[in-house]
Amino acid sequence: MKSYFRGRHFINLEDFDREEVDTLLEVSFDLKKKFAMGEATPYLLYKTLFLIFFEQSTRTRNSMEAGLAQLGGHANYLDSSTMQVSHGETAKDTAVILSGFGHAIACRYCNWGYGNRYLTEMARWAKVPVMNLQCDLYHPFQALADLMTMKEKFGRLDRLKVSIIWAYAESHKKPISVPVSQVLLFPRYGMDVVLAHPKGWELPDWVIAQARGNAEKYGGTVTVTDDEEAAYRGAHVVIPKNWGNWVTDQTGLAAAGAVKVVDEKLLAHRSWKCTQEKMAWTDRDGVYMHALPADRNHEVEDEVIDGPRSVVYDEAENRLHTAKAVMTLLMGGR
Ligand code: CP
Repeated sequence: MKSYFRGRHFINLEDFDREEVDTLLEVSFDLKKKFAMGEATPYLLYKTLFLIFFEQSTRTRNSMEAGLAQLGGHANYLDSSTMQVSHGETAKDTAVILSGFGHAIACRYCNWGYGNRYLTEMARWAKVPVMNLQCDLYHPFQALADLMTMKEKFGRLDRLKVSIIWAYAESHKKPISVPVSQVLLFPRYGMDVVLAHPKGWELPDWVIAQARGNAEKYGGTVTVTDDEEAAYRGAHVVIPKNWGNWVTDQTGLAAAGAVKVVDEKLLAHRSWKCTQEKMAWTDRDGVYMHALPADRNHEVEDEVIDGPRSVVYDEAENRLHTAKAVMTLLMGGR
């Protein structure tokens, strides 16, 4: 078991090897059990974490705030629009100042082409761990909670067929960071990962190359297809979720509100919705997962997300336990 985490940044799960991700999972399960038993876990007494949000959040913000309170510390929520970053204060200055006031910094910044650069720049200057609460490229907390949920539901990860499927949505152009983190992580656990999307919603080539490299190293597989039915057939886990057309959106126009969420190209793929009929194609024990929030009746029928195969609420709850594990190991630990 690798247990050296103290002081490290948590920007991308690729920065942690398999044994280290195993440790994160083990600690998550331990904290979940202790939470269920009402056992106190005062691992981060008097520690302060700054949470900077450039965008909205329900699960991420509250899993961090509640999680740190349960560990005996305090999370300070910062809406970026009320910070001097909105007047142009640099990532460096923000990181150095907040480092002097507490024990870690966490940030969500999903703007295409900006988010990961901002987080990386903060990590360069911060004297405390910097955690990624979702950027334009990665959502490591989500991918870790997904891994935990699959381990709970199946008792194994090896040889699971896990299909990450693009889905139609009208709510907003969702970042690619969830499917990117999933397609990179899951092959490291020997899963047979299928990435299915219509033409025009490709993930960057370097992501697929890196995911295939991970598959080769750890015994998983990665298949990319535009055949939605093939992705559902026999899958143990399906994750039908929207992501934006990053090739268009990386211009920054989407972030500036200059690109319509619903256009003709998107409307042509309305059929990419998770339905009961499609769920019937999955394995007998196949489950439906989604990071949430879901665009109900566009991405998925109510009958599926509220049905017996849906594990979305367990998946969301696991955001708490995995967040606590990451904070404990990075901010405390040895
Ligand atoms: N899945 C997720 O990150 O949810 P929030 O946007 O509510 O934080």
